[in-house]
Amino acid sequence: MESVWTEDTEIRRREPLPGDREVPAVVIGAGLAGILTAYYLQKEGIRTVVLEADRIGSGQTKNTTAKITSQHNLIYSRLIRTFGRRMAEHYASANETAIGEYERLIREKGIRCDFARCPAYLYTQTRPELLKQETEAAASLGIQATFGTGCELPFPVAGVTRFQGQARFHPLKFLAGMAEEVEVYEQTKVLKVEGRRVETARGTVTAEHIVFASHYPFLNVPGWYFARMHQERSYVLALEGAERLEGMYLGIDQGGLSFRSSGDLLLLGGGGHRTGVGRKDGAGQGYVLLRGRAEEIYPGCQETAHWSAQDCMTLDGLPFIGRFSRRRPCWYVATGFGKWGMTTAMVSARILTSLIGGRECPEGDIFSPGRRFTAQAAKGLAVHGAYTVKGLAKHLLPSGDREIVPNCPHMGCRLEWNPEEESYDCPCHGSRFRREGRLIDGPAQTDCRRKRAGGERR
Ligand code: FES
Repeated sequence: MESVWTEDTEIRRREPLPGDREVPAVVIGAGLAGILTAYYLQKEGIRTVVLEADRIGSGQTKNTTAKITSQHNLIYSRLIRTFGRRMAEHYASANETAIGEYERLIREKGIRCDFARCPAYLYTQTRPELLKQETEAAASLGIQATFGTGCELPFPVAGVTRFQGQARFHPLKFLAGMAEEVEVYEQTKVLKVEGRRVETARGTVTAEHIVFASHYPFLNVPGWYFARMHQERSYVLALEGAERLEGMYLGIDQGGLSFRSSGDLLLLGGGGHRTGVGRKDGAGQGYVLLRGRAEEIYPGCQETAHWSAQDCMTLDGLPFIGRFSRRRPCWYVATGFGKWGMTTAMVSARILTSLIGGRECPEGDIFSPGRRFTAQAAKGLAVHGAYTVKGLAKHLLPSGDREIVPNCPHMGCRLEWNPEEESYDCPCHGSRFRREGRLIDGPAQTDCRRKRAGGERR
């Protein structure tokens, strides 16, 4: 099922790339990060084209809950501890600036996308001390953050952290408006990138600057992003008959949920898990859990839509925005946005435009793909490595008669059947495929080949 954002938005179709081009900059991916980056580059006088394998906004932009916020779960106390106050300030200020920049652009362009300022809350039912700490850390970095013990959620909480002046909007209406400002070629899948050449089946674009804004970078080397990120799935229900909320909410406890209103609907999110790693009993873990919680919290409410999102998670929980690799100084990347794609798309567009424009960007240090490797990242690497080894080892084992599943064309891990979404998902780096083998999400670039027909899951 598609998200509520797709129901009322039609983005104008664009032609595929009509042949070879030579331009100063090319952006791969026409999601929010790609379109905004191209827009700002154009504003700098750097002619930019955007190449999109499918349609504008056909990737993860349409699957978000569309919160624009600097409140990214419990992050600020950790950032201060791990990276120091200066870098933590950069993270806070880049995200706060992004909120204001959305508002400025929307007003300037007259884009009708239901933008509204509202507070964002973290809530807990068990650990108020964590939220007190987070509130203090955020406030010390210049964010308007306060701690409290009450809120509008229809169940008791032990504490909330409130960030003032955050925002929500309709992501596809915004994207449709901004895409009118840039040169985009749809149905133009990038096959290969080498030096300054971006090869597609429709022609080659030669550019001084190449931006990878395609969610998960599809090249394994340089960069080694596949070793530094995994992907997670999370789920959203649109509910009718639930009380409207002024604020946006995220629970910090185990199984915490996300809440935000959109018109008369309440968007309830949660049930996240590593892509390709499901429950052993096969009972599903996203929609099933979420529907149970919806019935508990809002008895009698009606589900009008449901959808899922796929997010890139880095080892230290911070995005990678900056130069792709020291070996490719003219390549740039924006990925690893975690659950915060809307705000981070704006952050990345501004940072990459500064870098490409040759301007200093002090705020970019905390987002740099070459930033310091932390103890948290080391722990994440061990966990990520273990999943990869397991996935690859399974590939070598013979399948049982009724369990014949394909291997992932990215690096060969054994795919896992996801009964709830009827897809084959890769536990190693998160590629996904339809039942018949067609690619849904990368980093794999090709469909997977099924070994043989038959079997219960086919
Ligand atoms: Fe990397 Fe499947 S996504 S092996």
